[in-house]
Amino acid sequence: MDGGKESIIMSPRNIRIIGAAEMFDTVSRDITKVEDVNPRIISLYEKQFVSGQFIGAIGPLKGKHLLDVGIGWGTTSRAFLESGAIVTGLDVSSESLNLARRYLSCYSDRLTIVHGDITEYPYPSHVYDIACSIRTMCYIKNKQLAIGAMVSMLCSGGVIALCLKPKASVPDVYETDSRAFQIEGWPCRIEELVSILRTLNCKILMKKRIINKVPVIKPMGACIGFWLIAKKRT
Ligand SMILES: C[S@@+](CC[C@H](N)C(=O)[O-])C[C@H]1O[C@@H](n2cnc3c(N)ncnc32)[C@H](O)[C@@H]1O
Repeated sequence: MDGGKESIIMSPRNIRIIGAAEMFDTVSRDITKVEDVNPRIISLYEKQFVSGQFIGAIGPLKGKHLLDVGIGWGTTSRAFLESGAIVTGLDVSSESLNLARRYLSCYSDRLTIVHGDITEYPYPSHVYDIACSIRTMCYIKNKQLAIGAMVSMLCSGGVIALCLKPKASVPDVYETDSRAFQIEGWPCRIEELVSILRTLNCKILMKKRIINKVPVIKPMGACIGFWLIAKKRT
């Protein structure tokens, strides 16, 4: 087809704004198992970002109750589980959760998977030691509601950790063979998140830009731009 893909991108009428559930269902549907995905991506999430940076910043996880908002395929939670955490993973994408269930099946005694939206989730209060959301905030439109829910679920003194993607790692328009779409949720500004956390009585512990030494892996974007870690005051 002459210039087929390009003409989809060029014509604004053919670009739909879609939500995270549809986007991540679309991306995940074609994957049979996480182990088949580029091992460079998997190692980047599990080893470098989560084991190396996150766990290094918040300390030992053994026996800690951890909520992973936007657990996706489970690549980040795998590192939490390997470190001994008791994990609840929440996600709006049922196709991503199917992959996560298989990928994390050997940890099922310490893992609960919930299909739902953090902004609508009927959350239990004061149950988690850690609530994290890795590379997910940019896909959530109502950040105040999402962070509010996460903080409510934390015990006093619990830690919330948000790991943010740089805008440059996410393409403006995603393409599949037949469609082009844009994701709702952007922008995700660090200062907005800091101010939300402060209004929720959290003390900022770490705000750190991450210099990525790895190239962005297209089309999904594998970079992390910021760690934002805060503590819920007692
Ligand atoms: C880029 S993936 C990140 C997955 C995993 N945390 C990681 O770093 O590999 C973002 C995930 O957030 C989920 N998500 C987006 N908005 C959400 C919401 N409002 N509630 C729960 N999950 C959401 C998406 O379905 C997707 O699986």
